[in-house]
Amino acid sequence: MQEISRRGLFLGGLAVAGTGALAACSNGPGTAQTNFATPSRLRPLAGQRVVQHQLTAKATSLDLGGTTVDTWAFGDTAPGPLIRATAGDMLRIQVDNQLPTDTTVHWHGIALRNVADGVPGLTQDPIAAGSSYLYEFTAPDPGTYFYHPHVGVQLDRGLYGPLIIDDPHEPGDYDLEWVVVLDDWVDGTSRTPDDVLADLTGMSGDDTGSMGGMDMGGMSMGGDPPFGDAGDVTYPHYLINGRVPTSPDVLRGKPGQRVRLRIINAGSDTIFTLALSGHRLTVTHTDGFAVQPRDVGALYLGMGERYDATVTLGDGVFPLIAAPYGKEGQAMALIRTGSGAAPDPAIQIAELTGPILQGADLQPTQASRLSTREPDSTQMVHLSGQMAPYRWAINGAPYGENDPLLINEGDRVRLELMNMTQMTHPMHIHGHTFALPSGLRKDTVLIKPMSSLAVDLQADNPGNWMTHCHNIYHAEAGMMIALKYRT
Ligand code: C2O
Ligand code: CU
Repeated sequence: MQEISRRGLFLGGLAVAGTGALAACSNGPGTAQTNFATPSRLRPLAGQRVVQHQLTAKATSLDLGGTTVDTWAFGDTAPGPLIRATAGDMLRIQVDNQLPTDTTVHWHGIALRNVADGVPGLTQDPIAAGSSYLYEFTAPDPGTYFYHPHVGVQLDRGLYGPLIIDDPHEPGDYDLEWVVVLDDWVDGTSRTPDDVLADLTGMSGDDTGSMGGMDMGGMSMGGDPPFGDAGDVTYPHYLINGRVPTSPDVLRGKPGQRVRLRIINAGSDTIFTLALSGHRLTVTHTDGFAVQPRDVGALYLGMGERYDATVTLGDGVFPLIAAPYGKEGQAMALIRTGSGAAPDPAIQIAELTGPILQGADLQPTQASRLSTREPDSTQMVHLSGQMAPYRWAINGAPYGENDPLLINEGDRVRLELMNMTQMTHPMHIHGHTFALPSGLRKDTVLIKPMSSLAVDLQADNPGNWMTHCHNIYHAEAGMMIALKYRT
């Protein structure tokens, strides 16, 4: 009897430790619930506009287009409500947490004040179930951004929405603007993202379960596969603007109109290839920064990346396709400028078999370059890990066990992103953008298997920030590190 109860206790202890380890990925080790003071209120400067919003994170059911799922979302839609402001505006966003668990909101890509960055254990205490948090920050740079929680794998629920900061000096030589949000969807189908994570982390070397993540079946598309292994998760649905291809979102315009597309990959484990049948796209921005315009038939988007492109609309009905890299299926929206029947949801469009732009090949405009300067310090960001056992790390240890990168305010800091794994990782930095060797400015960049990339940032936004893989399962399994300013 005693032995059994001891064993029970021991297992109970293990279970608690296991949960603690996962929670540590989000919350940091030993984080009490009351470590952070309520942030000081931000007062608008004279003449500064204040844009106010309220977001409710809650359990809801969503119609994805004939498929209804129980999930969590901001309000009753996914993507959540569009938040829009002009560069220099102050945003004041009240988040009410009606989820059954902790959450936070992170404003992905915005160089905001640290206290509003939404990282539990690093910038705030988690917002407990039933309570609220006020995010106040100035959005300094125009661009296409998005918002999502920074707790667990909540991003892979319906908890994401577009955040657009307009440029007051934008010539705006387009007639229409469409926000195009890509997502890989599993929640409420038969598993939650937490189930998926548990399956992955509990997976042993010989038990691949139902994950099927190593399936390379889709690799023939678009010629040479540049990104190595596909993601770890097989999704039943791929969505554009929250809709499955059999009941797609319809974007309406007139032939000859010029449209600006603001494309956001809100997926958790999927690189997408995006193309519009019968059209070429002119890529103009990535992660908010202008690039030398580039005409392409198709482009890749890593998780967390954003691209803006303009397109002149033809006459008819055209599928806009987002194909998941290395996976089966596709996402589709319809662009309708004239009459015609909707295409087959499984249509194979020619643009996806031609050359596909890799964002890192874009060139910056002169104005969006980071000034040239030798780095004052170089920080190693060494990515490691594998599928079985499912562990991912930076600098030899998972988040919570690795040492933060320490930098000085005012320095030019070089991050040596070294990927020692067989997968591509979309590496994202909070509160800053970095410059690739070409000068291209980004906050999220795909690092290919067994390759490295040196990116430079200007340390001009003091605080405690995250750098991590934007595959949310990799991040949760440890592929994150803190970047802290010395005080
Ligand atoms: Cu969208 Cu920490 O990231
Ligand atoms: Cu990763």
